[in-house]
Amino acid sequence: MSNPSILILAGDGIGPEVMGEVKKIIGWYGDKRGLHFDVSEDLVGGCAYDKHGTPLHDDTMAKAQEVDAVLLGAVGGPKYDNLDFSVKPERGLLRLRKEMDLFSNLRPAQCFDALADFSSLKKEVVAGLDIVIVRELTSGIYFGEPRGIITEGNERVGINTQRYTESEIARVARSAFELARKRNNKVCSMEKANVMESGILWRQVVTEIHDKEYPDVELSHMYADAGAMQLCRWPKQFDVIVTDNLFGDLLSDAAAMLTGSLGMLPSASLGAPMANGRPKALYEPVHGSAPDIAGQGKANPIACILSFAMALRYSFDKGDEATRLEQAIEKVLADGVRTADLLGPEGGKPVSTSEMGDKIIEALDASL
Ligand code: IPM
Ligand code: MG
Repeated sequence: MSNPSILILAGDGIGPEVMGEVKKIIGWYGDKRGLHFDVSEDLVGGCAYDKHGTPLHDDTMAKAQEVDAVLLGAVGGPKYDNLDFSVKPERGLLRLRKEMDLFSNLRPAQCFDALADFSSLKKEVVAGLDIVIVRELTSGIYFGEPRGIITEGNERVGINTQRYTESEIARVARSAFELARKRNNKVCSMEKANVMESGILWRQVVTEIHDKEYPDVELSHMYADAGAMQLCRWPKQFDVIVTDNLFGDLLSDAAAMLTGSLGMLPSASLGAPMANGRPKALYEPVHGSAPDIAGQGKANPIACILSFAMALRYSFDKGDEATRLEQAIEKVLADGVRTADLLGPEGGKPVSTSEMGDKIIEALDASL
């Protein structure tokens, strides 16, 4: 049987640096655990635009459809701010999500003990935090029609449309309920049913799927603005949060920051099962391309490495190896190893991106 395949799209900004550390980890699994992957690499985002005049070449799109998992770094940067909207780096990422139909975006927010002091919230509010936001990723206002900037009379009008079909809501709801069953069996669904029809339908469909198929899971509903407030007030009340594309974008950045640094959080974007029974999947850190620190060896590679851990778990059925990698990261943090983003006001000497990767590999070695 051939090795499982991975397509690496490191992208822009700090993407290639943090992905460099993931490549070391992939190498470690080959050498030390006999887990070999067929790894190929390609371009996405600004770097793809520079080479091909498009943020995602059709050949790259076709490759992404064929592999067992895509690992993505980050896209975008100030250099591309004035490009036409249709070729902006972000369009490459959105095309991947849409054409691979990756409707379920899992964004865990987990607070590592060693970093509990580092959150902007009080330690008791965040210590031990372990929640997952399930964000709908292929529909809603990001993709709804009509959209555009038109002229009406003597002024311009910007238009985007929030649109959800019943089946789109149902499938992401199922993925949240399935996940909750493997965790603490609680789902909180967030929308704005008080002001949006799409929110009313969202609430109805989530409730129907719950009552028919997942009555054993505890379900609650919150308006998304109140949800944002509750996330800051007492995040540990949540287990799984399911929400739409735009609210999920906002709530997941907020949830990420609860844990101390955006540089820590991975994500998995999952679609329908492929012939091998595994979902089509793309893994990427929640953070962006951080152009201000790109190329300086300052970036924290942990979010990207944890995204690979999610790939081990969800695409390669290696939950035990994923846990090994997560524990290695926990160990390194407990030892006080910090990239610059993880230094508190008291300062200290940060390690570089590649030193962090090396420390994680040492901890993996020690786990054998
Ligand atoms: C994210 C990002 C993206 C989004 C951008 C880069 C298109 O913010 O993955 O959260 O808005 O979905
Ligand atoms: Mg975002």
